[in-house]
Amino acid sequence: MTKEKPSIEATRTYRAQLLICAGTGCVSNRSFKVRDVLIEEIKKQGLSEEVQVVTTGCQGFCAQGPIMIVQPDGIFYQMLTMENIPLLVEEHLVKGRPVEKLMYVPSKDQPPIPKLGDIAFFNKQRLVVLKNRGLIDPERIDEYIARDGYQALAKVLTSMSPEQVIEEMKASGLRGRGGAGFSTGLKWELARKASGNGKYIICNADEGDPGAFMDRSIIESDPHSVLEGMVIGAYAIGSEHGYVYIREEYPLAMKRLHIAIDQAKEYGLLGEDILGSGFNFDVSVHRGAGAFVCGEETSLIASLEGRTPEPQIRPPFPAQSGLWGKPTNINNVETWANVPVIINRGSEWFSSIGTESSKGTKVFSVVGNVTNTGLVEVPMGITLREIVYEIGGGVPDGKQFKAVQTGGPSGGCIPESLIDLPIDYERLAETGSIMGSGGLIVMDEDTCMVDMARYFLDFLRSESCGKCTTCREGIAAMHDIVLDICNGKGQPEHIGLLEDLAEAVKDASLCALGGTAPNPVLSTLRYFNDEYEAHINEKKCPAGVCRELIHYRIDPEKCKGCMLCNKQCPQDAIDGEPKGVQIIDDEKCIKCGVCLESCKFEAVIVE
Ligand SMILES: Cc1cc2nc3c(=O)[nH]c(=O)nc-3n(C[C@H](O)[C@H](O)[C@H](O)COP(=O)(O)O)c2cc1C
Ligand code: FES
Repeated sequence: MTKEKPSIEATRTYRAQLLICAGTGCVSNRSFKVRDVLIEEIKKQGLSEEVQVVTTGCQGFCAQGPIMIVQPDGIFYQMLTMENIPLLVEEHLVKGRPVEKLMYVPSKDQPPIPKLGDIAFFNKQRLVVLKNRGLIDPERIDEYIARDGYQALAKVLTSMSPEQVIEEMKASGLRGRGGAGFSTGLKWELARKASGNGKYIICNADEGDPGAFMDRSIIESDPHSVLEGMVIGAYAIGSEHGYVYIREEYPLAMKRLHIAIDQAKEYGLLGEDILGSGFNFDVSVHRGAGAFVCGEETSLIASLEGRTPEPQIRPPFPAQSGLWGKPTNINNVETWANVPVIINRGSEWFSSIGTESSKGTKVFSVVGNVTNTGLVEVPMGITLREIVYEIGGGVPDGKQFKAVQTGGPSGGCIPESLIDLPIDYERLAETGSIMGSGGLIVMDEDTCMVDMARYFLDFLRSESCGKCTTCREGIAAMHDIVLDICNGKGQPEHIGLLEDLAEAVKDASLCALGGTAPNPVLSTLRYFNDEYEAHINEKKCPAGVCRELIHYRIDPEKCKGCMLCNKQCPQDAIDGEPKGVQIIDDEKCIKCGVCLESCKFEAVIVE
């Protein structure tokens, strides 16, 4: 390893380090601008020699961004703006008084929590894959190396045979984090044993699930962990070239990946004769155009080769005949990032985390009707309740929890009665859902489960590549039926028809897009059948979401005649005098909900 001479900055000891997040969420809330003002202000106060500003990857608490942690005390600041930086520098860094008003407040009636380690969102998590998140600058390889980076690679190349690496991976129990949950060690073994040379390694960073950002965040905050995992995997299967297939919409992750590749090459950790071992391996980055089906491994390979991204019948599996017809091992970003930790800490340690069948941790992007949205890493076996209430802070605005959807668009909706379910691959499958790649959407009482099924079917029918008839026609047919139900045209026989179609699509589709597409329908039919019946038999949407089935009315007891709704209605559908009761004309009303949002007296009723 020919390391650069350390800069003065790298050798200096600072009184305080300001770790400001530069993940996509915080950057979109102007964290780079905040950082620049911070650096200026620190200069102005003459603190540049004592205080260091470090830009880090996503810290997971994206909804509170831009966020910053002041070390060594671990003080956590959130929702920073350029305007409040002078106060923060003056108070905290000059006078030594942390600024309460910029700290995290769990709820209105609770005091601010100064330290990151005391915030439930962080302290219930178990960081394995994300162990470096927020602690290193992802654009500086030295910081990764300072936290044991590339130690696993050195260990593998100097003291382990490829077979021993594979055995260690098998013993760890690591299963693919891209969705299917296949044993990573077994997959590597198949690729190693496959005859033929010119084998390939692929990192699947397509991440097409709406609302999911686990893989993007791992690459943004710790790109070297993924690269190191890939080099180890390449050594194990006997490959000299790898690809990272990453979607075009991830420019920051892509930029950091390129920087990491260049730095790793400069340090002799990638390219020819890695660490003087005689082993060669290089990585190229391939930009995907962003179709959901491109994440499916055989479609991804077709896309990499420049062909139409349609799935192929398996077998042959990629391990037998993959990219350019060569044995290929494809793993998800999170799977690769687990590899160096397993080698460093050992399979026994790794398999001590999790459940009987699912070892280690899982990264989830928690979104929807939950107070703390963001990225969390938790041990397998944690319950949904712990994720939603302890880490997620529960459902906001005093609303009732209704369901959690796991597994992305083709996952299932899990009801409140199963909220104490420990999460692992098998338990989720038993509920009719899937682990998928880690999307977790929380839904409150205002969510219509029939409309939810319609939404996911709409996504899946437009993302189906159309190669096989059952997937192309079956998903569209299910969508049209559910849409009819939402529009008040549902018939009792539709339920049986949906179940039959779901079974056919599940059984006869070429790839798992069709194979799992019925999950949203089947799970909502299973747990929320009463909502389907209300839509079909009573022509009512109990959650007040499906437009064709709802009416807006003003409660004369509550209306104060303030005229706010009347003035804001875009259709002139509200009649009434100032200080008098307002009345909605059902004929003119387009159910846009503006009156509901504008009323301060909760006088607008949806029924
Ligand atoms: C429609 C569809 C989309 C998929 N999208 C992704 C994806 O975005 N990322 C991913 O890693 N795996 C995705 N997969 C799973 C891959 O086919 C494959 O199983 C995975 O990349 C293997 O890596 P693993 O063993 O590490 O999970 C998708 C599968 C299907 C059917
Ligand atoms: S992007 Fe800053 S916390 Fe996620």
